[in-house]
Amino acid sequence: MLCPFDLTPSQIVTELDRYIVGQHEAKKAVAIALRNRWRRMQIQASLREEVLPKNILMVGTTGVGKTEIARRLARLVKAPFIKVEATKFTEIGYVGRDVEQIIRDLVEIAIKMMTQQAKESVMNMAQEQTDARLLDALTGVGASLETRMRFKLKLQNGELDNSIIDIKVNDTPVQTMDVPGMPQMGMINLGDMFSQAFGKEKQVLKKMPISEARRIILQEESEKLIDLGKIIADAIDAVEQNGIVFIDEIDKICAARENSRSSSVSQEGVQRDLLPLIEGTSVSTKYGQVLTDHILFIASGAFQIVSPSDLLPELQGRLPVRVDLKSLTRDDFVKILTEPESNLIRQSTALLETEGVTLTFQTDAIELLADIAVEMNGKVENIGARRLYTVMENLLEDINFEADAKRGETIDITAEFVESKLANLAKSHDLHRFIL
Ligand SMILES: Nc1ncnc2c1ncn2[C@@H]1O[C@H](COP(=O)(O)OP(=O)(O)O)[C@@H](O)[C@H]1O
Ligand SMILES: [Mg+2]
Repeated sequence: MLCPFDLTPSQIVTELDRYIVGQHEAKKAVAIALRNRWRRMQIQASLREEVLPKNILMVGTTGVGKTEIARRLARLVKAPFIKVEATKFTEIGYVGRDVEQIIRDLVEIAIKMMTQQAKESVMNMAQEQTDARLLDALTGVGASLETRMRFKLKLQNGELDNSIIDIKVNDTPVQTMDVPGMPQMGMINLGDMFSQAFGKEKQVLKKMPISEARRIILQEESEKLIDLGKIIADAIDAVEQNGIVFIDEIDKICAARENSRSSSVSQEGVQRDLLPLIEGTSVSTKYGQVLTDHILFIASGAFQIVSPSDLLPELQGRLPVRVDLKSLTRDDFVKILTEPESNLIRQSTALLETEGVTLTFQTDAIELLADIAVEMNGKVENIGARRLYTVMENLLEDINFEADAKRGETIDITAEFVESKLANLAKSHDLHRFIL
């Protein structure tokens, strides 16, 4: 059984530390939950069935890193992962929307993932067979070894790319599916995959440049080498055993107990719909039944108006690991501006570098930016680290606008500079510039 996720909890935390400042408790909880998936797969089958995932409820005000943790986790785990907004199911026109669709979407994600892996693993062989087919078409099957070698060389160094060739290719209606991050494989031709799975393909002779023929044949050959039935079975298995569903903004489908009005009916309805998925049910998909018993659910919400205890008790019970994310301090803001690999200062600097403008940031300037962010969060609305975006935007607005005229210059961002651009703004009543 496939269980690719073998990072230890401390390795997972270290990995998350590269992008997220603080929130150790939350990182630790997701790291343990993930490792438990791996541990579960190591134990005997009869016991394995009994071990249920420890689903997580992350609670924390806006902009403290809840969604960011989920986003980074998704890239880290080699498991089927889907993130949904709970509010999607209460929007006008969507009431009664089928929450089981989450699981169907997760299966599609897993199939794409498995197809990509499978194609990568047969790539070399597919390339060889592609070369052989092109060579047959070029020289005819009866050609001498010497002729074949000569043409093989020409083929390989691209000399013949623009030559027109008559070649047999599958006669399939174009019905394609994008595979992100896989430009070398182009598209997966679903028509092809299914005809391969369910019957023999008809071939037709077509005229086309060799470069085009190579692309089509590479696709045909790699699809011949992968087993669609196995991919689907593996994908369903991966979803059932290792799948992760992240439900963001779960507090938005929750109404305070005392003032439950009619509007809350649909919210509570969504909670009721979600319950069986989290408790474990069988969802029918076009690839077969999928059991949700062992899917890991991570829910997250700000819970500023309602409290987690306003969720349906059964739902609370199914989210047993509760982690509170801390409010971020001024020192956290300084770290967020400077430490993560793609921090805001690095982003802004890189963008201006493209115009030949060099930005340098003094330490006391960065500290002042953090102070101003804290101040604005207090005065206007606490939006956590998101505030840093508005502060940086206001700080660099003029430079961003005039960058083309400043080519070759180095601009030193000092505390005085920050003061001149922002401090007065922050003190004045002109606060609307900081409202998102
Ligand atoms: N602890 C943190 N460390 C680094 N960046 C953070 C942190 N918290 C929030 N951010 C940044 O602030 C923005 C909003 O964070 P997000 O995770 O979406 O907030 P929320 O908790 O509301 O889901 C993101 O760009 C994220 O990178
Ligand atoms: Mg969020």
